[in-house]
Amino acid sequence: MLSNRNTRPFGVSPERYQALCQQVDTLLAQMTLEEKIGQMNQVAGSRDTTGAPANTEIEADVRTGRVGSVFNAFGVEFTRELQRQAVEHSRLGIPLLFGYDIIHGFRTIFPIPLAQAASWHMEGIERAARIMAVEGAASGVHWTFAPMVDVARDPRWGRVMEGAGEDTHLTSLIARAQVRGIQGSDPGATDTLAACVKHYAAYGAVEAGREYNTVDMSEWRLRSIYLPPFLAALSEGCASVMTAFNTLNALPATCHPLLLDQILRREWCFEGMVVTDYTAIMELEQHGVAADASEASRRAVNASVDMDMQSGYFIDTLKALVQSGQVEEARIDEAVRRILWLKAALGLFEDPYRYADEAREAQCLLTLEHRRAAREQAAESMVLLKNDGHVLPLGDHHRKIALIGPLGNTPRLIGSWHGNGDHDDTVTLREGLANRLGEDAVILYAEGASNQIGENDTSGIEEALELVRQADAVVLALGEDEADADEAASRADTGLPGAQLELARRVLAEAGDTPVATVLFNGRPLTLTELDDLAPAIVEAWWPGTEAGNAVADVLFGDVNPSGKLPMSFPVNAGQIPIYYNAFNTGRPKGVDPKYASQYLDIPNAPLYPFGFGLSYTTFEYGELETACSEIGLDDTLEVRLALTNTGDVEGTEVVQLYLQDVHASVVRPLRELKDFQRLRLSPGECREVVFHVTPEMRRFLNAELERVQEPGLFRVKIGSCSESGEEIEFRVV
Ligand code: GLC
Repeated sequence: MLSNRNTRPFGVSPERYQALCQQVDTLLAQMTLEEKIGQMNQVAGSRDTTGAPANTEIEADVRTGRVGSVFNAFGVEFTRELQRQAVEHSRLGIPLLFGYDIIHGFRTIFPIPLAQAASWHMEGIERAARIMAVEGAASGVHWTFAPMVDVARDPRWGRVMEGAGEDTHLTSLIARAQVRGIQGSDPGATDTLAACVKHYAAYGAVEAGREYNTVDMSEWRLRSIYLPPFLAALSEGCASVMTAFNTLNALPATCHPLLLDQILRREWCFEGMVVTDYTAIMELEQHGVAADASEASRRAVNASVDMDMQSGYFIDTLKALVQSGQVEEARIDEAVRRILWLKAALGLFEDPYRYADEAREAQCLLTLEHRRAAREQAAESMVLLKNDGHVLPLGDHHRKIALIGPLGNTPRLIGSWHGNGDHDDTVTLREGLANRLGEDAVILYAEGASNQIGENDTSGIEEALELVRQADAVVLALGEDEADADEAASRADTGLPGAQLELARRVLAEAGDTPVATVLFNGRPLTLTELDDLAPAIVEAWWPGTEAGNAVADVLFGDVNPSGKLPMSFPVNAGQIPIYYNAFNTGRPKGVDPKYASQYLDIPNAPLYPFGFGLSYTTFEYGELETACSEIGLDDTLEVRLALTNTGDVEGTEVVQLYLQDVHASVVRPLRELKDFQRLRLSPGECREVVFHVTPEMRRFLNAELERVQEPGLFRVKIGSCSESGEEIEFRVV
């Protein structure tokens, strides 16, 4: 299934692509087999306890051309010195490629990616990626291991914080926005980075949400749900791909011919570099598909892996594998060409030190402009889950605030994967409230209880209640610790850790008529059923980043009207997991029979808060859907119009979502699928006509033969403010 897709790295023209190939082929022809293999070897940079470079153990390999790339490498001084070792001491002086995990910020930390997804604001997401690239590139980094595009339907998995949630379409759009922001429009520009889409593939589907666990699914589901965001990133010009730790259908992703050769190279025509995840080649032995380092290397390199992150197996075994004929030297040449091509595209052969500029590093990091952008995105990423009795927004008349909870006075609000972010830069919630209320306000603080998993000490609650009695408003700051939603941080119990729920119970009971606003800081959808019963107002703030406290205060006091919409379903009970909005109807959907139906005896099917859900301080009214006709041809586009009105008395932003159902098809189709959305800001009383177009491409899907088809028949369009509400019309494709 060859295609003429443009998935060339950086989306360069064929001419530019070929010109760089010719440039690197000249160099390739001069390289020994050892030097070629050296380019395929990536090692971690290291630092001593003071953070100073401590690369003695890798400098010798760098000087002898045994290292092609160093990751965890940043800082002008750090990278410049390592680069000098490579350029001035190795035989051919081939520059190193410096990589780092710049996922949602380098020094200015933006909201975690799952929070950014909740903004549904592509321009904001692109801007955040642009800023993190500017800061990383100013510090000597060439390449970031982002975007992470793993669709995830299981909040037990800690890395849901790093992706864009459960929906393929939203994740695909965000992947594109992040690649645009990271790579900019000129790979040679020194304020851009090369991107690396990860983790290829289906890492978000680990069984039981348990980290690094088995992944097994139909090829139909793989290609329909998990792969499209990768193709989206590559179609946007993403320069590289990282393989995943997990197996997929009994083969590790790091030696998977279907993924790495058939789909990536032959169908998608991707010619960029593939790097493994950390020691993933070595882990082929643990998986049980390689008896030793040599077999592990052979299987990975012959499956089309180009660079080995940290296992050291390529450098130790590829020469013998080539000499014994188990690996063709042509395969080595192909891998090295891709690696050198990337270095050439970044301009590193012209000037290996071009990214290591002290002045730029001193000027670019943590600027007021960057902080302002982070604060803006953090506020628009927050989701108002509940606001009974209009507890929120709080007002300036609230002058004595009781701030209660383990997240109220901590800088640990920048989330995991926070790059070179420094907790000391974080605006805590306590500071944010003080900044907002000014000097004469009083903020009383008590932790009340811990958010550490398993620490159920309730002895601090009484002190908290004493403050509640004195206050004219209460802010409850609850959630997870940054380390508890991350890589290697799966949780079977996705409730509030520690004794936080007991703290909430007691505070809410003690508060009486005093308004209580609950703010959640967490990296995954939590199970909040009891809290939802008790708390009148709940704001999902995720981990908002460096400007956390200011952004939360902006929302709590109404300076920003919350507009976030959930990118992942929040379960009623972990027993519902995996839970996702675009599910199939089943043959016995709930409701058809009191007993014999697809349901539980003890909990509902529906989530507590559905995908796409989020309230506002204003209200929006959706008018009826109108179309010019109810019958169209296969190649026709259906135009759907509606009137959206801000029926409240404050300005607000609404994410109007369009879901499509293909009611009868040759394979089962989801009850609804997000196909489009518009993020609209309306003044009080403003009525806006909203127009959507349901295109043939939106109506296509994979049939049982894995062909992308559109079939005639009945369709339903639903347009609303979340996946479970809205106005609906039917139309027929003939
Ligand atoms: C980690 C992660 C991957 C990251 C890499 C380098 O284990 O799985 O996302 O880019 O190692 O830090």
